[in-house]
Amino acid sequence: MADHKGSTDLRQDRAHSARIYDYFLGGKDNYPADREAAAKIEQAIPSVRGVARDNRAFMVRAVRHLSELGVRQFLDIGTGIPTEPNLHQVAQETTPDARVVYVDNDPIVLAHARALLVGTPDGVTQYVQSDLTAPDRILSAAAVRETLDFDRPVALSLIALCHFVSGDRIYDIVDTLLAPLPSGSYLVMTHLTTDFDPAMVEGTVRAYRQSGIEMEARDYAGVSRFFRDLELLEPGIVAIEDWHPEGKQQAVDGVTVLPNGAPRPPAAGYAAVGRKK
Ligand SMILES: C[S@@+](CC[C@H](N)C(=O)[O-])C[C@H]1O[C@@H](n2cnc3c(N)ncnc32)[C@H](O)[C@@H]1O
Repeated sequence: MADHKGSTDLRQDRAHSARIYDYFLGGKDNYPADREAAAKIEQAIPSVRGVARDNRAFMVRAVRHLSELGVRQFLDIGTGIPTEPNLHQVAQETTPDARVVYVDNDPIVLAHARALLVGTPDGVTQYVQSDLTAPDRILSAAAVRETLDFDRPVALSLIALCHFVSGDRIYDIVDTLLAPLPSGSYLVMTHLTTDFDPAMVEGTVRAYRQSGIEMEARDYAGVSRFFRDLELLEPGIVAIEDWHPEGKQQAVDGVTVLPNGAPRPPAAGYAAVGRKK
């Protein structure tokens, strides 16, 4: 574990989305304020730990899929506290010379950056502490310019991230990030939605906001808008667990069940991958 005692102020008195997510994934990098927020969130969405695991599993499937399609460069914003396998490990499994730049605004992720920067000898991984809401700053960061070749396709991954920015400005932010990427680049996203179980997800949004974390769930139209100029890969914009599910789900009497036979809880988020024309 990285040393947290450096000069960085981790603001442990406040809840942070990276640390709440770390708690749901069973990690140790969270503090009482995060666990208090997590308890409120879990009341609203009892399946939240499974949702976090499903979200992480989508990242693995999507990155593997894009690597098999020949993508060798990834810009991953809202990286989170390292959780094995990390995105570069998945990409470099298929493509040892894959180049990955991670971006997050939580200093605790920076404190762990060393774990993110150990990749294959042929590949490159870099870390930038920056904020999604300042996309030009991300694009002009030296680590981004020096690591990624914008003449070749880049996968921009915004996984479980855009719902932390409310209002329509998020569309301009994502458009700004996609603008310099060449044709054949990809947008990879998961996003919280109220479409499957409105009461559950509205309660989740309330619980985050009560803990001081901005959040907005978006419906199908709101998520589609991110992809309006892109070609969606099959199967389109679907529940996270339905994006190329790798045969782990089965239907019994028309109900999708988990491997333990229990009915699958309602989905909380959409997943999609789109290709820039
Ligand atoms: C729920 S976690 C998702 C982590 C990872 N992408 C995944 O899906 O497994 C959200 C991450 O986004 C980061 N984040 C939230 N708002 C951000 C912002 N405005 N700019 C950069 N990162 C942000 C948080 O610090 C956290 O690490």
